[in-house]
Amino acid sequence: MSGPEDIATALSRLRSGGLVAFPTETVYGLGADAFDATAVARVFALKGRPATNPLIVHVSGEAMARTVVSEWTADASTLAQTFWPGPLTIVLPKSDRIPAIVTAGGGSVGVRCPDHPVTLSLLEAFGPLVGPSANPSGRVSPTTAAHVRASFTPEQVLVLDGGPCRAGIESTVVSLVEPMPRVLRPGIISADQLSAALKKPVRPHTPGEVAIGAAASPGLLESHYAPATPAKLVDRGQIEAALKRGTPIIAVLALGPRGAPALHTVILMPDTPELYAARLYAALREADEVSAGQILIERPPESGPLWQAIADRLRRAASA
Ligand code: TXA
Ligand code: MG
Repeated sequence: MSGPEDIATALSRLRSGGLVAFPTETVYGLGADAFDATAVARVFALKGRPATNPLIVHVSGEAMARTVVSEWTADASTLAQTFWPGPLTIVLPKSDRIPAIVTAGGGSVGVRCPDHPVTLSLLEAFGPLVGPSANPSGRVSPTTAAHVRASFTPEQVLVLDGGPCRAGIESTVVSLVEPMPRVLRPGIISADQLSAALKKPVRPHTPGEVAIGAAASPGLLESHYAPATPAKLVDRGQIEAALKRGTPIIAVLALGPRGAPALHTVILMPDTPELYAARLYAALREADEVSAGQILIERPPESGPLWQAIADRLRRAASA
């Protein structure tokens, strides 16, 4: 676990325009000074991220959030007071201080206060940091410091280690720049929870909404969170049939015990959505590493908002 000395090293790296990966409760972020267009350009270049996909800005709380937006609304206050620090990104009109590269030229910015003591100290000391997930664009998000180190060298990125991420899937993104608040990316916090806090309707994210979502939030493009090995979402029966065959070698993310010939790899997934989400990205990486020809993912239930957020990630992992 990183301590005060590591945070001091990270601060000097950030002050010279460098990149620092930081832990959050969702996934690790790839941090750079949100007010420094050159530093932010390094994030896009290193991730291979399309310039059309905006970055979210991390802040230590409501006071710092006000410095990156041009309009901090009553709804924003309510959401921040209810859910921050926590897995919620709020999209608001951007401040002129935020360079255009951060928001991909758009007029709005996503802001989030993450719930992790190491990163809250870093943000307090430094100020706002951009923070996309710390993975090459389109690949599986990192949930441990080791995952980040597997993608980037120490010269490219200094990694702060905050242990494994508790929640395991990315924050809920909610837009407050439309007539009705709208979930652009489903996550741990559901549209119903947002609606209860705001005391008004919130449009949930619907899987069929991809084309609209892609325009509003390019990160919602279909192929995303994908392992290098082709992955397929299947039902239990299809897994059992596939495992009886010898080729290709298969890695399975299964929801219940499966007997399998030794050449295949079965990764047993937890059966509660909280634990499944926390385990998912590490499991996809493990499946990727056993040099299987194919990854089969047993389709989990879609009952309840957290399973639905997981289903969203699985659809993207499987649509490469
Ligand atoms: O949990 C998280 O949100 C993690 C951790 C590190 O905080 N970060 C993360 O960042 O997932 P990233 O860049 O991988 O995903 C941010 C998502 C993308 O889908 C992006 O398109 C969307 O938020 N987004 C960012 N700014 C936006 C904006 N101004 N309007 C609409 N969507 C935006
Ligand atoms: Mg990402």
